[in-house]
Amino acid sequence: MGCGSYLPERIVTNAELATRLETSDEWIVQRTGIRQRHIAAEGEFTSHLAIKAAERALAAAKCKPGDIDLVVLATATPDNTFPATASKVQASLGITNGAAFDIHAVCTGFIYALSVADNALRCGQAKRALVIGAETFSRILDWQDRSTCVLFGDGAGALVLESKPANGAEAAGRGSNMKERGILSTHLHTDGKGYELLYVDGGPSTTGTSGHLRMEGKKIFLHAVQRLAEVAHEALDANGLEPKDIDWLVPHQANLRIIEGTGKKLGLPSDKVVVTIDRHANTSAASVPLALAEATDDGRIKPGQLVLLEAMGGGLTWGAGLVRW
Ligand code: ACO
Repeated sequence: MGCGSYLPERIVTNAELATRLETSDEWIVQRTGIRQRHIAAEGEFTSHLAIKAAERALAAAKCKPGDIDLVVLATATPDNTFPATASKVQASLGITNGAAFDIHAVCTGFIYALSVADNALRCGQAKRALVIGAETFSRILDWQDRSTCVLFGDGAGALVLESKPANGAEAAGRGSNMKERGILSTHLHTDGKGYELLYVDGGPSTTGTSGHLRMEGKKIFLHAVQRLAEVAHEALDANGLEPKDIDWLVPHQANLRIIEGTGKKLGLPSDKVVVTIDRHANTSAASVPLALAEATDDGRIKPGQLVLLEAMGGGLTWGAGLVRW
């Protein structure tokens, strides 16, 4: 029905980071495509970013808070260990119906949240869902570690979904309703053997601290290029579609080289790929809805077009969603 996003005001450029760390704009741009990132202000929490993005999504959807009966918030950086940040967001928006909860699948979080909300709508558990990805990764970065801290930023994006009665074609099964607008299918994966390739070295049950992000960048890079292409084909195959049918690829924004590699494997020209990493860096669960909001606001993504969303992250998790916009 509509989407919205929010980025904190403060922009930190590569040049600014280079005044504090042994790094350079050239290295960061060449290896990642990142030029700047937004960083939350002191006292600005994940919930604040989520609320602002959700308000914009509700306005775009011409939807009142009272119309929403499900809030699913994807985040790896909640305000508190519990309760769910989604509870805070729900109360602040004045939503009183149904359930609100967080989903934790790190950078794949938004695809997981979308899948959970889609299933709840399909089975009649909810009528209108607010799906949010919001992160303040700046709070879990080791700002002395140049191999990770230059990669991430803060932000939020949100999407409003509504269930519509299926037409006759739906009865023939998923994939047959190709011209119907909405989510055609979602595909989720986890390989827990990669737990230690990308993790935070703290937590309530282990150290009692929130910890800092640690990553084996090269191994994650190779995994990403292979798995993202696989899951994109899985989504297309499930719907009897081919890469040439995709109007827009909206990928998780982790590294421009990963985005270009995935686009190339699918045979997509670069002008069909939405890229925000240069300005947003990696905002984890917020990156896909931030990119979606940008490309719908500026009119690139139009109603009826086929949009492929994909992401991968800690877990290791990865997934895709195919949407007729
Ligand atoms: N500035 C300057 N030099 C640096 C920096 C920096 N910021 N960071 C690392 N280097 C140095 C390293 O120390 C190394 O130096 P050495 O050769 O003297 O040892 C050299 O640059 C090369 O480092 P590599 O790690 O080999 O560089 P690589 O080309 O692999 O790029 C990067 C690193 C950008 C992290 C890449 O591996 C990557 O993007 N990986 C994927 C990350 C990702 O996708 N994460 C997604 C998941 S996010 C989530 O779920 C939270």
